[in-house]
Amino acid sequence: MSNTRFWIIVAPLLFLTFLVLPGPGFCQESANCLLCHSAMKGRIKTASNALVELNINADKFGASKHGSLSCTDCHMRFSDNPHASPGSDVPQSVLALSLNISPKFKVDPVAGAACITCHEKTYKMVLGSVHGKNIVEEHQSDGALCLDCHGSPHYITSVKDDSSPIGRKHQIETCGKCHGDTRIIEKYKLEENVMESFGESFHGRKLSLGHTRAPVCASCHSSHDIRSKNDPDSPIFGKNKLVTCGKCHKGANEKFVPAISHKRPGPIPHYGEKLLIILTIGVFAFIVIHVLIEAFSDIRDAIFRKKEEEE
Ligand code: HEC
Ligand code: HEC
Ligand code: HEC
Ligand code: HEC
Ligand code: HEC
Ligand code: HEC
Ligand code: HEC
Repeated sequence: MSNTRFWIIVAPLLFLTFLVLPGPGFCQESANCLLCHSAMKGRIKTASNALVELNINADKFGASKHGSLSCTDCHMRFSDNPHASPGSDVPQSVLALSLNISPKFKVDPVAGAACITCHEKTYKMVLGSVHGKNIVEEHQSDGALCLDCHGSPHYITSVKDDSSPIGRKHQIETCGKCHGDTRIIEKYKLEENVMESFGESFHGRKLSLGHTRAPVCASCHSSHDIRSKNDPDSPIFGKNKLVTCGKCHKGANEKFVPAISHKRPGPIPHYGEKLLIILTIGVFAFIVIHVLIEAFSDIRDAIFRKKEEEE
């Protein structure tokens, strides 16, 4: 069979395959909701004055880790006959949890609790952490829950992605939303602004210089089971540090592990460093000025010599 005849037969077949293949892999349920929610623009205000974004970017949702889920896997109460008829029955455990965490949500705490149906172990860990207890035991809304760290529930990408709010690139600023906030530092009597001290620490500087093995917050505090520094189960409590620091510092012993915390280096290294910077700039400036003067005199000599030769 000649090459041309082959393509005359195969090309239309290929074209047909493209037509039949489905678009982005939304399930029917999501497609129904997206019919409205990907077309709607703008926001509404709830009774409690919270702003709610109605638009869902269908492409971004489809490309996210949850792109093949149905909207109602999380929004269990909603149906595609918009919001008039109730959705599926909400399991008792999800319902109870949703009541407990409702201060963290604007419109649908059931959706915020539904994550537990697929991420049970992680969810329970978070509820038992210093962040979760702040919400379910102390009934505050300052502690971190899933969306505070992972961002919009509709566009969650791999935690390894640069775009993830919890990936290496953005994790510091994500924890810093709260841990750099003086209201939270004062309210919970945290000793210091860890964002400032981490930034000035050896690790913080290595990280900002792009060192790929330098620790981020979760390297020392863990991601979900985060505890108070006074909790014996915290990875940074007492001897637990041997393991935590030991992940990166082979042979870390009891003398080594207290070496670094959030405490800034004392005033002497601080001013010592400033002095070094001034000295370096001074020497550099001296060299530049010296070279400039020399160049200037060379040019001047050249011009005068030319004039003398002409005369
Ligand atoms: C026919 C268009 C339409 C369809 C289909 C639709 N919605 Fe909505 N949705 C709306 C409108 C309009 C609002 C805002 C006003 C309101 O709440 O009535 C809204 C609001 C919402 C809200 C914000 C909470 C609230 O009560 O205001 C959520 C969550 C939501 N929709 C989820 C869904 C889900 C999940 C589906 C599919 C099961 C869906 N919607 C299907 C039109 C639609
Ligand atoms: C992984 C779980 C999950 C999936 C899947 C999901 N949602 Fe949501 N959605 C949530 C959570 C959690 C909230 C936050 C509710 C709140 O703050 O009260 C939310 C909020 C919303 C809102 C209000 C917007 C806002 O800014 O709070 C709309 C509208 C909405 N979802 C529509 C949809 C539609 C349409 C789909 C399907 C294409 C969908 N959701 C899929 C979990 C999910
Ligand atoms: C204090 C911030 C924080 C909170 C709150 C949080 N996460 Fe995470 N999560 C992280 C970090 C950091 C990672 C990345 C861990 C890594 O790189 O291995 C992660 C990773 C994950 C992963 C993927 C890897 C794994 O460990 O399974 C899932 C799934 C996840 N989180 C779900 C959740 C759910 C569900 C909630 C709410 C119950 C939640 N997270 C709350 C910070 C958080
Ligand atoms: C119906 C099941 C289901 C529900 C409900 C659900 N997830 Fe997931 N989630 C998944 C699946 C499946 C993945 C993809 C796992 C993978 O690719 O390895 C995932 C991935 C994730 C990841 C990314 C992990 C990674 O690979 O980096 C995070 C974070 C996450 N989910 C958080 C949530 C949060 C927060 C909620 C509630 C708002 C939620 N999930 C609700 C099934 C679910
Ligand atoms: C190298 C390990 C390490 C890294 C990285 C790290 N921490 Fe810590 N963190 C500690 C240790 C150890 C303590 C115990 C207190 C101390 O020794 O200063 C602590 C204490 C804390 C405290 C309690 C402070 C107080 O005053 O009670 C908070 C909050 C905290 N860290 C948050 C963070 C955040 C947010 C990040 C990321 C910007 C981070 N940590 C990065 C090791 C670390
Ligand atoms: C939504 C706000 C918020 C975010 C985001 C957040 N935290 Fe917190 N965190 C808090 C609050 C509030 C407390 C104090 C809770 C309490 O004591 O009741 C706390 C407490 C802590 C503590 C215990 C401090 C102590 O008493 O020793 C550590 C450690 C910590 N957070 C680390 C982190 C890390 C690491 C991240 C990012 C991966 C993070 N947090 C993200 C609000 C947040
Ligand atoms: C995720 C990996 C990681 C963790 C966890 C970690 N470090 Fe580091 N640390 C580094 C890297 C990378 C450097 C820079 C090494 C270099 O440039 O040679 C460093 C440097 C240091 C230095 C200064 C240089 C040196 O080697 O003496 C000290 C001190 C230090 N870390 C102490 C600690 C302590 C204490 C802990 C536990 C609380 C800890 N580190 C946890 C990765 C880590």
